[in-house]
Amino acid sequence: MARKPMMAANWKMNKTLREAQEYTAALLPRAADAEGVDVAVFVPFTCLHEVARMAEDSAVIAGVQNFYFEDSGAFTGEVSAPMLLDVGARGAIVGHSERRELFCETDDVVARKAARAVEAGLLPIVCVGETKEERDAGGMWEKCSGQVRRVMEELPDDTGGESIVFAYEPIWAIGTGDTATPDDCQDAIGRIRELLEELQGDGFAEEVRILYGGSVKPDNVADTMAQEDVDGALVGGASLEVESFMELVEAARQTVPSDE
Ligand code: PGA
Repeated sequence: MARKPMMAANWKMNKTLREAQEYTAALLPRAADAEGVDVAVFVPFTCLHEVARMAEDSAVIAGVQNFYFEDSGAFTGEVSAPMLLDVGARGAIVGHSERRELFCETDDVVARKAARAVEAGLLPIVCVGETKEERDAGGMWEKCSGQVRRVMEELPDDTGGESIVFAYEPIWAIGTGDTATPDDCQDAIGRIRELLEELQGDGFAEEVRILYGGSVKPDNVADTMAQEDVDGALVGGASLEVESFMELVEAARQTVPSDE
């Protein structure tokens, strides 16, 4: 069974409501032509309601970049899964390295968020990845596998591969222009898939989508997407303009086998 490629925009802390409306209005008609690809936009909380409303009748997945695993209560500044579902969110990035590093999110917190998203019916895009120092010291796999294992421990036992997405995002490649080579992407993502097979069975591993993230641009996306285990990309900088994001979506579409 072929996995459906996904191209996901991570706007990070960018765009006013007006800019989000303009972007979404330009994206929707073009994304409608990208049959066979899941197009997702992970937007600031302030834009979610509007982007989700605009995307309601389309296949575009509107989501957020973070949320908290409790549903309500005394958690000043936080937003819960039911609140997000209420305004139309369909997915959430979980454990992005910027949240882990700048906002002190531990593997435990990330795992609980991933599990809560799955239970709530919100598609989590769970990010894992190593620093430059860890890679140089030969610790890439120890770091990434530890992050994946902790998430899998927390997921409900019956979680299917379609209910969660992983993203391998080496920290040294994010926002630096220093993208991982296609071989490095395949190596890490192939090993993550093998680990998921060991932990959750081959059906899960066959179905689960694993993206690459880190300086994905129109000129390097095709080589990355050509790798056997790479199912798409999570994109920051190059997703901020519809034009370049659509070039990435188009590259993903090229990998979809045609019916003829
Ligand atoms: P980048 O960000 O494409 O700007 O490197 C990717 C990400 O942080 O998800």
